[in-house]
Amino acid sequence: MESKKSSLASSTPNISPSASGLTQCQGFWIPSRIAPISSIISFQKYFQALDEDIIVASKPKAGTTWLKALVFTIVNRHFYTLSNTPLNSANPRHLISHFEVNIYRESPNPDLSNIPSPRLFATHLPYPMLADSIKRSYCRIVYITRNPFDIVVSFWHFLRGVHNLPDWSVEDCLEMFCRGEEGYGPFWDHALGYWNMSLEKPSNVLFLRYEEMKEDPVAQTKKLAEFLGFPFSMEEEKTGVVNQIVDFCSFNNLKDLEVNKTGKMAEIILHSNKLYFRSGKVGDYVNYLTPTAVERFNNILEEKLSGSSLTFK
Ligand code: A3P
Repeated sequence: MESKKSSLASSTPNISPSASGLTQCQGFWIPSRIAPISSIISFQKYFQALDEDIIVASKPKAGTTWLKALVFTIVNRHFYTLSNTPLNSANPRHLISHFEVNIYRESPNPDLSNIPSPRLFATHLPYPMLADSIKRSYCRIVYITRNPFDIVVSFWHFLRGVHNLPDWSVEDCLEMFCRGEEGYGPFWDHALGYWNMSLEKPSNVLFLRYEEMKEDPVAQTKKLAEFLGFPFSMEEEKTGVVNQIVDFCSFNNLKDLEVNKTGKMAEIILHSNKLYFRSGKVGDYVNYLTPTAVERFNNILEEKLSGSSLTFK
């Protein structure tokens, strides 16, 4: 059963109509204007996973754009050089489409059989909402997550930018996360679904953390390539291919590409690609959230994650 949360519902007094519009579906809050429930149902019903498929999974603002750039570059490195890769003229989001936002929104039962192998897909959906065919197959899922406080702040900036909400406060945004009523939330259930699967099926689900990628992008990129079945050869390592890919996909490089400085994205609302590249830092939340607010969310997270081995620094 779905229940629609009215943008004027009294339990969300401070959230502007443009920032809410969430629909509860299968235990999660779905931003159904951008990811219609009908598209999700079609995806669950019709998508036939292949063992070679690669799926980039994340919650918004966890580092999806970065991970898409890395996955695309690693998998296609024998087809494109870094000077002629499509990433020079397209935002990573355009090169790996989301099931719920793009593919099954455009058509309820699209023909995906012509896509060259490995097919690259993306999703913000939580693990329990993935098509059963994915869960039955041997396809690879790479999940990226991030310190939830940075996600809150990044999400707040992003939504304010997309919907032009100057009055929407970061405290209101944090409240949504504390209630678990943010897009694709609750955060803890989203992360736990992929975390548990990464423990259960480590060759099918890789769990990455934004902070670890920032700390050691070369090691994490090698780990990613290995997991994807596209490991770097000794020769590639010796000739600096890994470092070149890491540098190309870095925040500073992608942010400065013309397409990401001036390009636009037409997903529901026309918005600038540059909104996907804000500061790219770890721990920026301290500049926005009070210690009291952090403690409140932290207590909720500790309770929700207790009994699991998943922790956030
Ligand atoms: P900030 O708002 O904290 O800067 P997503 O791609 O999931 O929407 O996440 C966007 C966040 O990732 C933004 O965080 C953005 O700046 C950051 N980001 C985008 N590209 C990045 C890259 N190549 N390296 C590191 N961070 C990146």
